[in-house]
Amino acid sequence: MHDFLSDPRFKGIEPFSSKVWLSSPTMHGEERKWVDEAIDTNWVSTVGKNIDETERQISEIVGTRYAVALSNGTAALHLATKLAAEKLYGQARPEKGTLQGKRVFCSDTTFDASINPVAYEDGEAVFIDTEYDTWNMSPEALKKAFELYPDTRLVVLAHLYGTPGKVNEIRKICTSHGALIVEDAAESLGAEVKLGNKWVQTGAFGDYNCISFNGNKIITGSAGGMFLTDSKRDADKVRKWSTQSRERAPWYQHEEIGYNYRMSNIIAGVVRGQIPYLKQHIARKKAIWERYEKGLSDLPVRMNPWDRENSRPNFWLSCLIIDEDAMAPTVRDDREYLYQTQSGKSSPSEILEALSAFNAEGRPIWKPMHLQPIYRMNPFVTPEGSGRALTDAYIPSDVTDAGADIFRRGLCLPSDNKMTPEQQDRIIEIIHRCFE
Ligand SMILES: Cc1ncc(COP(=O)(O)O)c(C=O)c1O
Repeated sequence: MHDFLSDPRFKGIEPFSSKVWLSSPTMHGEERKWVDEAIDTNWVSTVGKNIDETERQISEIVGTRYAVALSNGTAALHLATKLAAEKLYGQARPEKGTLQGKRVFCSDTTFDASINPVAYEDGEAVFIDTEYDTWNMSPEALKKAFELYPDTRLVVLAHLYGTPGKVNEIRKICTSHGALIVEDAAESLGAEVKLGNKWVQTGAFGDYNCISFNGNKIITGSAGGMFLTDSKRDADKVRKWSTQSRERAPWYQHEEIGYNYRMSNIIAGVVRGQIPYLKQHIARKKAIWERYEKGLSDLPVRMNPWDRENSRPNFWLSCLIIDEDAMAPTVRDDREYLYQTQSGKSSPSEILEALSAFNAEGRPIWKPMHLQPIYRMNPFVTPEGSGRALTDAYIPSDVTDAGADIFRRGLCLPSDNKMTPEQQDRIIEIIHRCFE
């Protein structure tokens, strides 16, 4: 690792005495009231007032009829995916997944929890390339995927870093192919999209919707997630599956495979205490994004983009992408990286190392799923067609792979709610020095 603290380019910059985080929990004290109440009344299990209230309040905020509180967002995504698969293909035998032999079109630049449930259910994820406009699923690539695999009926769509994808286009494409959507709004709680002339929250758009209260999210329960729906039947089914699929009988009786996925009333207490601060957190994250945009405007970088006409992100993470001609040489293998320092240029690895040296936490862009070794054999579709097996010793390759390109040139900046403007200015200064 380069010695940034004695590098003359960084002269006069002091390391932060306490770490500036990427996105850490922001507690307000009110959480304690509901957690204490759960303990004082002995309702600490997976039933209780905090769960009921949290479900009621979140469904009201997001605009769905029902919410089912679960142990985490991954559990919500698993049950949402299974529900969609059962609707499309029927119930599977207990030892088999509901997606056996089926393909599912999936967001590519996302956290693996979005799409792993496809594999849990024995399905094959087909990764759909990312678009530069929003860094989310490319509608053009999705169209192409339906040309290549016309029998596909399920799409898993994530909203990266709190920025909504192009849901209008994606819904239209899915409707014309009779496909259902599992919406992963884990990172985008509170973000909105314009549907016609109506603003709709992410988490209310899909046929099956999921959110997360993981410790790094816009509000947190320390853990937790929710399944959101307008269908009472789907809500009841998810509630049943999440509590081991018990039947109405005096003994443990099971007609279906079950899971232990329900949220605890203690976790729900933390979420309940956070809900009143959702708007405040979003406003703070937006101010952080705007301060970066202004402070970095003289550098050869751009902030993570969003559709200003049709979306209102929650600005969960601020990110930047370096212009191609300002990229210093850099390589990454599966675990390590190397970069060169060049005047007027930089690289995500250099900036992330510099931030770390001064005690601030950034992170590489989520590495696209089609580049992950575990999914190396899964199809990957770009707007031009299959993105796999296109290289040739004798023919120059000009494959467009937006996700890989954003991963190569982009990074997530420290975006913590509790970061002060002074701390952020110092981070902006460190980034400037990287380009000196
Ligand atoms: C896009 C996305 N989907 C799903 C998850 C999983 O949520 P959880 O950690 O609550 O299981 C996360 C993050 O944690 C995420 O960022």
